[in-house]
Amino acid sequence: MNYSETSPVKAPMNAQNNLPSAIVTPPSNTAIAVTNLCFSYPDKPEVLQEIHLQVDTGDRLGIIGHNGCGKTTLFLLLCGVLTPTAGTIHLFDEPVIPGKFRPEVGLLFQDPDDQLFAASVQDDIAFAPQNMGLLTEEVEQRVEQALTLTGMESLADRPPHHLSGGEKQMVAIAGLLAMRPQIMLYDEPTANLDLRARRRLIQFLQQSQETLLVASHDLEFILEVCDRAILMSEARIVATGTPASIMGNADLMHTYGLEVPYSLRR
Ligand SMILES: Nc1ncnc2c1ncn2[C@@H]1O[C@H](COP(=O)(O)OP(=O)(O)OP(=O)(O)O)[C@@H](O)[C@H]1O
Ligand SMILES: [Mg+2]
Repeated sequence: MNYSETSPVKAPMNAQNNLPSAIVTPPSNTAIAVTNLCFSYPDKPEVLQEIHLQVDTGDRLGIIGHNGCGKTTLFLLLCGVLTPTAGTIHLFDEPVIPGKFRPEVGLLFQDPDDQLFAASVQDDIAFAPQNMGLLTEEVEQRVEQALTLTGMESLADRPPHHLSGGEKQMVAIAGLLAMRPQIMLYDEPTANLDLRARRRLIQFLQQSQETLLVASHDLEFILEVCDRAILMSEARIVATGTPASIMGNADLMHTYGLEVPYSLRR
């Protein structure tokens, strides 16, 4: 057997019998690998076509594109809520199996009402850590930290369905933070936030080490938080680059129905 063909790293040799003493596979730096991904809802035209995407660990990727171009659908596929019609998705080299919970990935839903369901804010935030089998003390600690980070301490006992849109959004974000996934998918995170809450989120995300994907029409937010961006249009990725190089390209932005954000206008 030729070990150099099967192992990415040459195995150290055992001096006595001249056999490899271990097959060493280096840890992959790839958090998300998407190959030739296609998807359509039943009896509808394709919503995603031939998506190829690689996201390395710690990357912060912004996803921009017109309404209906497929951003939310891509997120639902990445976390196994939807089943691809073709192609593959791997998270940390493990294939995504639709319907199977992967604690490494957490999704902030575009509509917080899709995410919040418990009787109180703190119960909602505790839900994921409890289901991950953590000890009560650890769950309580995570809930407290998530409430503090999002500034939602005073709402801990309130029923989520009685909160304002922005409060719901921050509580949904707190729930995601308490889960501490290695990959965070934020779908329109600033849609309901006031400027102070939006700034708090920017500062938090700028400091976080997790792999981050943000789908948003808030282009200034993506400029501040992300180091790479993809532009989607009509089910396809049509441009990849730094957020400033994509958003600052007036021809490109206009071609795909978007505008150059104010801070990049000359
Ligand atoms: N459950 C569904 N059944 C049928 N079609 C759907 C369904 N959900 C979304 N679509 C369609 O799929 C396409 C992509 O929708 P998606 O929500 O992924 O877009 P998006 O890029 O997130 O848009 P937005 O910027 O408005 O959030 C749209 O044409 C939409 O109408
Ligand atoms: Mg969407």
